[in-house]
Amino acid sequence: MGAEEFLPHSRSLSDLRQAAESCRGCDLYRDAHQTVFGEGSQHASILLVGEQPGDQEDRRGEPFVGPAGRILDQALRDADIDRTQTYVTNAVKHFKFVERGKRRIHKKPGRTEVVACRPWLLAEIEAVDPRVVVLLGATAAQSLLGPQFRITKSRGEPLHLEDGRSAVATTHPSAILRAGDDDREAAFAELVADLRVVAELLDEPRRVHG
Ligand code: URA
Ligand code: SF4
Repeated sequence: MGAEEFLPHSRSLSDLRQAAESCRGCDLYRDAHQTVFGEGSQHASILLVGEQPGDQEDRRGEPFVGPAGRILDQALRDADIDRTQTYVTNAVKHFKFVERGKRRIHKKPGRTEVVACRPWLLAEIEAVDPRVVVLLGATAAQSLLGPQFRITKSRGEPLHLEDGRSAVATTHPSAILRAGDDDREAAFAELVADLRVVAELLDEPRRVHG
């Protein structure tokens, strides 16, 4: 189990992406249409990590192109972050779902799948070498900061990954879609506020990490 043995020797993004197409590091490749690898600027200063592709992402092969992606785009715009200057990926690269009639309903990936898929995420972070990693929701945050991490406790705070790189955790855009009408606006504003913290971190002098 685990993606490690599927990683190529070359750690360029294009080689990683190609190798990930045939990953069988956990069982999720069996039912999904395709691996959804990260996308965006190869030298992005901001790398955003979601949970896993959704139904539309699985069909199109691109991350955050469905309803959650539209919320993310809007929040990035409101925080004055240009999505084309970012790299966007997920903690888990295959869509996990249960079938209800014709619909495929998102199923949260388990710890085993998150850990199995982490080598791809770590390799993407190394290849892109961003200034700040944005952890969208608990799955992404717990992949890189451990299962004890709580978004509610530490969101919007400057954090550090194991390699010393700056990170900020915030709510997942899907949580805003799920929020009730009374809470949605406030939840969205909090996401934007956390993304502004990310933008501010870019103004700080670069730390040497390693
Ligand atoms: N939710 C995610 O976490 N990632 C996507 O790519 C789409 C929805
Ligand atoms: Fe490999 Fe990740 Fe897909 Fe599992 S979810 S098969 S580890 S790419």
